Amino acid sequence: MKVLIVGSGGREHAIALKLKQSPKVTELYCCPSNAGINQIATPVPVKATDIDGVVKFAKANHMDMVVVAPDDPLVLGMVDALNQEGIKTFGPRGEAALIEGSKVFSKNLMKKYHIPTAAYEVFYDAKSAIDYIKERNEFPVVIKADGLALGKGVIIAEDLTQAMDGVHSIMEDKIFGESGNQVVVEEYLTGPEVSVLAFTDSKTMVPMVSSMDHKRIGDGDTGPNTGGMGTIAPNPYYTPEMAKRCMEEIFLPTMAAMNKEGRPFKGCLYFGLMLTPKGPYVIEYNCRFGDPETQVVLPLLKTDLYEIFDAIYEERLSEIDVQWEDKASACVIMASGGYPKKYETGKEISGLEDVAAMKVITVYHAGTALKDGKIVTAGGRVLGVTAVGDDLKQALAKAYDAVGHIHFDAAHYRKDIGTVKR
Ligand code: AMP
Ligand code: GLY
Repeated sequence: MKVLIVGSGGREHAIALKLKQSPKVTELYCCPSNAGINQIATPVPVKATDIDGVVKFAKANHMDMVVVAPDDPLVLGMVDALNQEGIKTFGPRGEAALIEGSKVFSKNLMKKYHIPTAAYEVFYDAKSAIDYIKERNEFPVVIKADGLALGKGVIIAEDLTQAMDGVHSIMEDKIFGESGNQVVVEEYLTGPEVSVLAFTDSKTMVPMVSSMDHKRIGDGDTGPNTGGMGTIAPNPYYTPEMAKRCMEEIFLPTMAAMNKEGRPFKGCLYFGLMLTPKGPYVIEYNCRFGDPETQVVLPLLKTDLYEIFDAIYEERLSEIDVQWEDKASACVIMASGGYPKKYETGKEISGLEDVAAMKVITVYHAGTALKDGKIVTAGGRVLGVTAVGDDLKQALAKAYDAVGHIHFDAAHYRKDIGTVKR
């Protein structure tokens, strides 16, 4: 089978490595790819959001399956366009990807189908939003841009001034563009956060091993939010009892709700959960694999990933026995100094050969490129150094040991990934 992966981060590298292990997959392609993915897949110089370009390439080169990994092409309807040409895909159609593409849609869905989520109101202009926040007068308060915003569309305002600044910057300064035409103002919840990715073909729901993301740039969860600075799996807070509850109260009701709305979801549905004192709540849905959650979850998958993708496309996921290693994994993100604000690229990365020889370590490339035969930094998040161990402690020790062998100018990484406090 010839498979094309759309996207070029650490998540796509993890998907590519798993697909490569499938005896069914003979050729892998990736657009636009990166220096790490290039080692196992043929790079295709087409942008991940270029629907026509991807369809054209897939047709001309007879791809047997296209895996659309990032949110924007999914929300833009890349899967619909590929299916119209008879090309097999992994990922939801645009109508179902709306579960991530619009917070207003997903909040209204949860309300309508009684899926636990923070209480909220929707606003279409800044004045009404601010009037409401003033009247409510409870802080912190959470303000969310409706549309996609590179994972940065959420503002947690500690007081009225911050809330007003937040509403103005989203709705008037349009810092997230059209994504800020509507905002959701919601109740602030507390509790440990859990990410659960789930395979679903709209009939069967198979949750993967749970994980924990660390979104802030600094140790002790300080500083601005990032795309994710490290992950562990499984999530120590996610007990079997909690998993059972989430399946009954959240996962299955979400699948049923999407079917009722005429938007059957096929692909990987990501549940961003918070385990509040009142029970598990949905903080957000994503219509895709998480990044860097995928880098810790997929290494624990024992079942052939291509077989799973194929079964989802054909809506026979119930036939597949999805199995997991009874181990733990940890991923430490090495980022460019300055990220998530301004940072420099083009820095040579050393130590990758040493680490390649280490057992149980995989270095997923996120923002890398090849320059004059050398691997250099090419993004904010550069590498995801991942280890599998018998338990979390072992996985973390191994991942940090490997990080110590890798160097580039101004590299930044968190020293406290997997530290469970909260
Ligand atoms: P999101 O982009 O929706 O994942 O939100 C980013 C982060 O903001 C989440 O991981 C939470 O830590 C935080 N967050 C979002 N909504 C809430 C909420 N209602 N209460 C508390 N924290 C929240
Ligand atoms: N790690 C969070 C996300 O993928 O949205």
